Amino acid sequence: MQRRTAIVTGGTAGIGLACVEAFAERGVAVGFLGRNPDRLVAAQRQLEDRWPGLTLGLGGDVTDPDARKALVAAVTDRFGTVDILVNNAGGGSQAYRLEDVEDADLARVVDVNLQAAFALCRAVVPMMKAAGFGRIINIASIAGRDAGRLSGPHYAAAKAGLIGLGRQLSRELGPSGITVNTVAPGVILTDRIRQKWDARSPEEQRTLLQDVPVGRFGTPQEVADAVCFFAQDGSGYVSGACLDVNGGSFRA
Ligand SMILES: NC(=O)c1ccc[n+]([C@@H]2O[C@H](COP(=O)([O-])OP(=O)(O)OC[C@H]3O[C@@H](n4cnc5c(N)ncnc54)[C@H](OP(=O)(O)O)[C@@H]3O)[C@@H](O)[C@H]2O)c1
Repeated sequence: MQRRTAIVTGGTAGIGLACVEAFAERGVAVGFLGRNPDRLVAAQRQLEDRWPGLTLGLGGDVTDPDARKALVAAVTDRFGTVDILVNNAGGGSQAYRLEDVEDADLARVVDVNLQAAFALCRAVVPMMKAAGFGRIINIASIAGRDAGRLSGPHYAAAKAGLIGLGRQLSRELGPSGITVNTVAPGVILTDRIRQKWDARSPEEQRTLLQDVPVGRFGTPQEVADAVCFFAQDGSGYVSGACLDVNGGSFRA
């Protein structure tokens, strides 16, 4: 079987790191990006110990065009091509209400969650078209499907835009052998979300948990498993889909 190569943005923690691990476990070579140098070194070290030579960590901000270019160049230099793109880097801000969202905050959240994903699709699609194979998976959110639980309107708008991008690209790129799908997580207990959770009152925490029929929050690995489903060679007839990984909190 041909060895595939993936890019995961924001792969040094949380859902992104779980995706990198899940890919490496399946023999997929992975390049990933993160900003914090300490986190990057720690992730690269533990990945290299477990899967020598199969992962490549790069420092940089996905909203920086030069960092995106360097990521794609480094991965193709090292592994030959990019078969799979996971647009994972993202997140909201501390503003939860319309009147609290400053213009700069709105621009930053749209930039990291939507614009960077758009630009990376544009960067890797020519390679995928040439190969007649590609898998693009965008990490959206329940916020873009329904409404945010721990986030604001700018984040919901950016994630809804990302879902629309996936649907449109699936039509455009299907004839080239490229599938484009979306994973929309509910509350997933990463370190970042645990901090937001800890800041809530016991009453708010109870209300949030009651919203999840399975009675718990998700794990990064559960999201990574959904990503791997879309990424595999055998998923070529699934495109333009959005898979909710949210414990039943919202069903389309
Ligand atoms: N956790 C949830 O409950 C949840 C729910 C729905 C959707 N999501 C979505 O899932 C994705 C991952 O969330 P997460 O909770 O796993 O986040 P996380 O635990 O905070 O991890 C984010 C990862 O992305 C990196 N990153 C963040 N901003 C970046 C940037 N501008 N450029 C490059 N790397 C960046 C972080 O490293 P550095 O900070 O060092 O760069 C880290 O490696 C996001 O798109 C988020 O919106 C999460």
